[in-house]
Amino acid sequence: MDRFVIEGGVPLRGRITVSGAKNAALPAMAAALLSSEPLHLTNVPRVRDIFTMKDLLQHMGVAAEPADLQPDGELKLCAERIVRPEAPYRMVRTMRASVLTLGPLLARTGEARVSLPGGCAIGARPIDIHLKGLEKLGAQFTVEHGYVNAQTKGLRGARIRLDKITVTGTENILMAACLAEGETLLENAAREPEVTDLARLLRSMGAQIEGDGTSTLRVRGVTKLHGTTHRIIPDRIEAATFILAGAITGGELEVSNCDCEHLHAVLRQLEAAGLTVTKKERGCVVVARPERLRPADLTTKEYPGFPTDMQAQYMALMTQAEGTTRITESIFENRFLHVPELVRMGAAITVEGRQAVVRGRTPLSGAGVIASDLRASASLVLAGLAAEGETTIDRVYHLDRGYEGFEGKLRAVGARIRRAAA
Ligand code: EPZ
Repeated sequence: MDRFVIEGGVPLRGRITVSGAKNAALPAMAAALLSSEPLHLTNVPRVRDIFTMKDLLQHMGVAAEPADLQPDGELKLCAERIVRPEAPYRMVRTMRASVLTLGPLLARTGEARVSLPGGCAIGARPIDIHLKGLEKLGAQFTVEHGYVNAQTKGLRGARIRLDKITVTGTENILMAACLAEGETLLENAAREPEVTDLARLLRSMGAQIEGDGTSTLRVRGVTKLHGTTHRIIPDRIEAATFILAGAITGGELEVSNCDCEHLHAVLRQLEAAGLTVTKKERGCVVVARPERLRPADLTTKEYPGFPTDMQAQYMALMTQAEGTTRITESIFENRFLHVPELVRMGAAITVEGRQAVVRGRTPLSGAGVIASDLRASASLVLAGLAAEGETTIDRVYHLDRGYEGFEGKLRAVGARIRRAAA
């Protein structure tokens, strides 16, 4: 298992280009199951979850090329025939987003056998809302031996109100509704840009969808979807992570090829913390002076609120603010695994239920730490970049799931970071 070795204290300067969004590419790949015609995706990030999803689709009988994703981010998928409408546990356990194949398989083949994803470090991650919505569309489920066995005699449109806002739940039900007979009204839907990007893709395949970007989606089912070409949106979480890397190191960083509209809540929060982030045509520039960092309380929210996927990174930054910051994680029940690791580096943080209290400013010192989940790993990298001395981060495979060439991009703007075999 690889580790990162970081020598902190270098202000990052220069320009970083953001890759395609993992959380937009995963549902887009699942959407290939909805048509027998080729789906050509571009700007697909080369991260582990994408390879896992490609393997899973190929297991089902989907043709995929190139065999090994190239730097150009091109991926061609064709589900001319689905031979195995199933997502086995050995694949699902490494990537819970495999559950995104459930809705498309039901819509296309009338059946599916998908392993329950199980929990992960940040929470139980149930899929009850996915199943309830698909049941409303006419699917029947039995759950046994850790698998969801699904079937339908034909999906029919329905009025569905989600009990909670769920990103992949919205995506699963939206994809199934596209091929259901009649109209579906999906209320309390997620509004994340990745959901909107999926709606755009489905429309370009011939789906009839209205209301994307709002919390009510209206779908008129069609009998068939055709192939198309679609460019994946930039990864707003990767972009925000790099913006915070510039901020925490007191550097001057341009983060390019990102859509500032998707970063509105993050940029507003950084301004409250005393940072200036200038928006540009296709990106933004952060110029930071650490002495100006102010504590600014945060509560994570569904989009367009501050994203939970940036909470750990923001916490690392607030260790450098003069004063106390209260951070409330309202989406996941266990998303403070980065706290003990940050404390090992000198941070003063206490956790009370869903709230973490950060008492800054505490100088950070390099230490040996362990990554626990994708975004907590990013938080530890940020802390290591700001710390005095050397930080080693074990289990960086968590990071490889969602960041393409992370250490290379940081090295190119001055970070002293390298990957080593642990
Ligand atoms: C998506 O996960 C993202 N993953 C997550 O990113 C992200 O953190 C999350 O949305 C929130 O923005 C992908 O898009 C592949 P949810 P998802 O369903 O869809 C509860 C990363 O770092 N819930 O919106 O699984 C759930 O427990 C990952 O890239 C139910 O109770 O998240 C949570 O508390 C981590 N029942 C809340 O809803 C359900 O059926 C929001 O979860 C579904 C969800």
